[in-house]
Amino acid sequence: MSLLSHGAAPRWTAVLLLWAALCCLFVPAVTVKHENFKTCDQSGFCKRNRAFADQVSAASSYTSPYAIVAPSVTFKKGQLEAIVLKTVKESGERVPLPLTITFLESGVARVTLDEEKRAKGQVELRHDSKARKERYNEAGQWALVGGLHPAEGAALVETTDAGYTKVVYGKGGSHQAIIRHSPFSIEFQRDGETQVRFNERGFMNMEHWRAKVEKPVEEKKEGEEEKKEEEKSEEPQGEDESTWWEETFGGNTDSKPRGPEAVALDISFPGYEHVFGIPEHATRLSLKTTRGGDDAYTEPYRLYNADVFEYEMDSPMTLYGAIPFMQAHRKGSTVGVFWLNAAETWIDVTKKKNTVNPLSLGLKSSTDTQTHWMSESGLLDVFVFLGPTPQDLTRQYGELTGFTAMPQSFAIAYHQCRWNYVTDEDVKDVDRRFDKFNIPYDVIWLDIEYTQEKKYFTWDPLTFVNPDKMQKQLDKRSRKLVAIIDPHIKNTDNYHVIDELKKKDLAVKNKDGNQYEGWCWPGSSMWIDCFNPAAIEWWKSLFKYDKFKGTAHNTFIWNDMNEPSVFNGPETTMPKDNLHHGNWEHRDVHNINGMTFHNATYQALTERKRGDARRPFVLTRAFYSGSQRSAAMWTGDNLAEWAHLEASLPMVLNQGISGFPFAGADVGGFFGNPSKELLTRWYQAGIYYPFFRGHAHIDTRRREPYIPGSPYTEIITQALRLRYQLLPAWYTAFHEASTTGAPIIRPNFYVHPEDEAGFAVDDQLYIGSTGLLAKPVTKEGADSVSIYIADSQPYYDYFDYTTYTGAGHHTVPAPLDKIPLLMQGGHIIPRRDRPRRSSGFMKYDPFTLVVVLDKDGNASGTLYLDDGETFDYQSGAFIHRRFDFDGARQILMSANLVADTPSKLALRYVKSMEKVRVEKIIIVGAPRAWKDKDEVIVMEEGQKESKRKKAVALEYHDKVGNKAAWAVVRRPGVGIGRGWRIDFGEKVEHEHHGHEH
Ligand code: GLC
Repeated sequence: MSLLSHGAAPRWTAVLLLWAALCCLFVPAVTVKHENFKTCDQSGFCKRNRAFADQVSAASSYTSPYAIVAPSVTFKKGQLEAIVLKTVKESGERVPLPLTITFLESGVARVTLDEEKRAKGQVELRHDSKARKERYNEAGQWALVGGLHPAEGAALVETTDAGYTKVVYGKGGSHQAIIRHSPFSIEFQRDGETQVRFNERGFMNMEHWRAKVEKPVEEKKEGEEEKKEEEKSEEPQGEDESTWWEETFGGNTDSKPRGPEAVALDISFPGYEHVFGIPEHATRLSLKTTRGGDDAYTEPYRLYNADVFEYEMDSPMTLYGAIPFMQAHRKGSTVGVFWLNAAETWIDVTKKKNTVNPLSLGLKSSTDTQTHWMSESGLLDVFVFLGPTPQDLTRQYGELTGFTAMPQSFAIAYHQCRWNYVTDEDVKDVDRRFDKFNIPYDVIWLDIEYTQEKKYFTWDPLTFVNPDKMQKQLDKRSRKLVAIIDPHIKNTDNYHVIDELKKKDLAVKNKDGNQYEGWCWPGSSMWIDCFNPAAIEWWKSLFKYDKFKGTAHNTFIWNDMNEPSVFNGPETTMPKDNLHHGNWEHRDVHNINGMTFHNATYQALTERKRGDARRPFVLTRAFYSGSQRSAAMWTGDNLAEWAHLEASLPMVLNQGISGFPFAGADVGGFFGNPSKELLTRWYQAGIYYPFFRGHAHIDTRRREPYIPGSPYTEIITQALRLRYQLLPAWYTAFHEASTTGAPIIRPNFYVHPEDEAGFAVDDQLYIGSTGLLAKPVTKEGADSVSIYIADSQPYYDYFDYTTYTGAGHHTVPAPLDKIPLLMQGGHIIPRRDRPRRSSGFMKYDPFTLVVVLDKDGNASGTLYLDDGETFDYQSGAFIHRRFDFDGARQILMSANLVADTPSKLALRYVKSMEKVRVEKIIIVGAPRAWKDKDEVIVMEEGQKESKRKKAVALEYHDKVGNKAAWAVVRRPGVGIGRGWRIDFGEKVEHEHHGHEH
């Protein structure tokens, strides 16, 4: 029966049906379950502190109740100590809070405030709790690895009756801290100008210990109604005690044996309009405000590591990891703070416009960024960085928390993952198909289904029959396997791992001190407590090749669900009153928990076989400051949607400036099936993630690069080849990150800190110091992108040398088969041009150097190389060269950047690379004068006299339209690890130069 044959009513049905069908086409985007996660209002201490901030702001006169006791101030060897007293308004009680300010060699200052009563254990915990009484003071033991030497040169210049203490510190005494006594506040100045202010607005709040006063329960008289909201609000306002002693959320009650214990502080950055950092959030790089202002969020940024299922875009909601490091940037200055606290933390950001009297000539109006940090427990422990450059910030933060571990070279190539490759045959089949389609890849991954019933360290005997054989096949092409191992251990019979965990008593405990049991992938589970050194020792034993059978030197590990994710726990994680080693409450250590786990795995991988230490590879989902020392991260369960592709760029850039640059997002999007176009664009963007992995949910269709077919497969293959071609540049960028803390991919502000117009640009990126500027396409149907250029250098299209010059936006064509990538003039980029199946096969491949001339005709660049596998580089076994093209002298030179006398290992390595040569040198923007030149003179150190100097052909290609002129020297044949020079100026017969060292 036709729907339309029965007059008006059925016609309506048809319209409705059609509408319903259309609705199905535009399925509303899946979104996060907000009800599973707390808002600030539902998190007692956040609500209390925001309310407190509101009261303070609204009060016509308000004095912060914190004051330094002046005679208590002492200063010795770069360290100031004093007692801050908090006067409790209601009772007049004075609570002593010991203050330490350490002025570090690096010019960073550290402010720590404790609470005397708790520190001395002079408090009573409720419910007979076994928890520690102190405020958590071990975060530094996990997060910090150096940079803590107090500065000899720091000097207390005065402590006055006028109520302040002044300390001069930093290089050349350029910094000073003015510590005001009453009310307590601190101004940090550089060159006489205030850069960072503590407690300017009086939001400082350390919730001191107090005993619970049991109030008689008022009985409701019959007929009496619940008080109405309006009536309630008319009651006199005291402190809101409703969440001091107990909090319930989602059916879970937190017993809070220590009562209220939050720490909060307002930190202002006068004159700074932009703040960056505090990952992980799906937000723009330049953080939006959270309490009013244009396009503001209404919730503060939250840091409480959580398994946020189907997370939403453009939101300050918490995600899987936390780095409480924020930097403020303006033209000429970058400063920052690192809030060393591992408990749940919320941060409000507001901006204040300073309007300047129009008559006061010469003064510009400016904006202050004001922040308000609130943590549930722990010490107040804050590091203050005064820059002045973004590079200073990342270096100083890295000195404290560690630099990125130098990964094995395979780890920065392409990773192929999905949940799940279902059998060992499946893995081998995928591996063969990559070869069949000539698509390079290095690593294939196994998700949870490889195990027998989610018991880690076992293989499903029916599906993974012969893991050894599978690994051998991978090894033939120098490929690796990554297998997942999560922190939840299945609570079941006949499983040696849970038996040992229980017997050795190494699991996290519940509030009563019994092994905590919760629900995760395997069903009933227990969680290893890696805060316990004994647990780490035990964990190491599990990874030995003879214990975790079926693994080999090419097996590496993925640690997931380590927030930890607990399906039946509050906010999908552990109860806060659970207990860890040393009886610290989970509340205190939550954000560090994931890091302790991946650190343990890292250590385990280094000790799998005596005498065979290779650099581990561990991927983690949860992280904290310091995670960069032992893991890579990815941004968790994103969606196969354009918005998620777009958001991945600022997220990964933010990781970079926040000290954890080995980062990426699931290419293709985890949930859902991407269109072929989206998948292709995602690969074209993914090649710029430092950690580059395709991954997909178990319910999605297969989407390995060979699946989508022509032309997508070819286009994706080209993208992958581009990543492989540039691996030497990437590896060099990783080396730089591992020695200076510089990000691997860099946002505009980091590279051009003076360019105000580009501070908020976060959809394009620079690769290391190479001058490569990429702008991934993140919009459906796009055939061009608008690239923002910050300076007056020429920028050349990577592929055809089209030239873009002039600060501002430039339209660059970007049809589907084109990846928008420019080269900034002034750089020399190392590449390897021979397409291979895996990066391991490129180890001895020759190099191409692309010399991209700047507007004055100069260029320079570096190359770092090592064996890509072992720790020998730590004994000097590497090649580190600097290449310079001197436009005035027309000479290209390779110089050694290694200053020390080489060690044995170093010499051995250089020897192993002796045959590795430069096979091509391309000069982009080549001078016109070379038009009639057909030779260059090549000179190499260490060659026999007869071979030392030779003429090599130069090929010149003239400018065509706006495509720059370029020249190429084929087979100059110079050693990549050698000193050499190429003279583009003189003719061979006029040459009288000696050779270079
Ligand atoms: C989590 C991970 C995801 C993984 C899945 C199964 O959702 O984020 O990447 O595939 O668990 O292990």
